[in-house]
Amino acid sequence: MNVTDAIASRISTRAFLDKPVAEKTVREILEVAARAPSGGNLQPWKVYALAGAARDDLVARVKRAIAENPFAKESEFAIYPEKLWEPYRTRRFEVGEAMYQRLGIPRDDKPARLAHLMRNFDFFGAPVGLFFTLDRRFDKGQWAHLGMFMQTIALIVQERGLATCMQEAWQTRAKTVSGFLGLCEDEQLYCGMALGYANLDAPVNATRSDRADVDEFAIFKGFKE
Ligand SMILES: Cc1cc2nc3c(=O)[nH]c(=O)nc-3n(C[C@H](O)[C@H](O)[C@H](O)COP(=O)(O)O)c2cc1C
Repeated sequence: MNVTDAIASRISTRAFLDKPVAEKTVREILEVAARAPSGGNLQPWKVYALAGAARDDLVARVKRAIAENPFAKESEFAIYPEKLWEPYRTRRFEVGEAMYQRLGIPRDDKPARLAHLMRNFDFFGAPVGLFFTLDRRFDKGQWAHLGMFMQTIALIVQERGLATCMQEAWQTRAKTVSGFLGLCEDEQLYCGMALGYANLDAPVNATRSDRADVDEFAIFKGFKE
């Protein structure tokens, strides 16, 4: 699989098979992904990889925390600006609607939509959960570098026939996750990532998101041809 194919075929997988992924596989993926660039070669990322009992314990702990306090505000930052503007508002709306359509969940079925959202907190059934953290003292540059690292992981995973879903949803339970992982004061949770084998029979995995045309986001100047 070449890089273009990996980019084109990667999707956010939201249903996984109950098939384990070996530590060796995760290590190899991380080893390759560590070639991702970062300003000054700081390599500012840290990754926690959970499987088996560690994964299940976290899932159970977060489930309990949600049951005890469904409206807890644990996020350390706003995942989106409070009021999204165009064209971002419509893009977000459309990708959500496309997914719920695949799942056969209408807009007014709030409990079913919420139940699907809650699947985030079981890694959508994936056997491995990754968490990405940064030192709080880092600024926007290092956050961007962490993003590059995460996308590099997603592409390598794709090449190896496995699948991912990046999960900022865990940010809404940042305190619980950070406590579970034993993060020190200086360490901040950014995002989770579900990792495993895609359930190709699950309708949700047939969702294909759109992208804007290049002319909507790129400005070309000075080219001769
Ligand atoms: C940093 C990041 C965090 C994300 N968090 C979530 C999440 O918590 N739950 C989820 O279902 N999808 C999440 N997504 C998936 C996006 O919704 C998805 O990438 C986007 O709609 C485009 O679809 P695609 O990944 O299938 O191409 C996240 C994506 C990124 C890049």
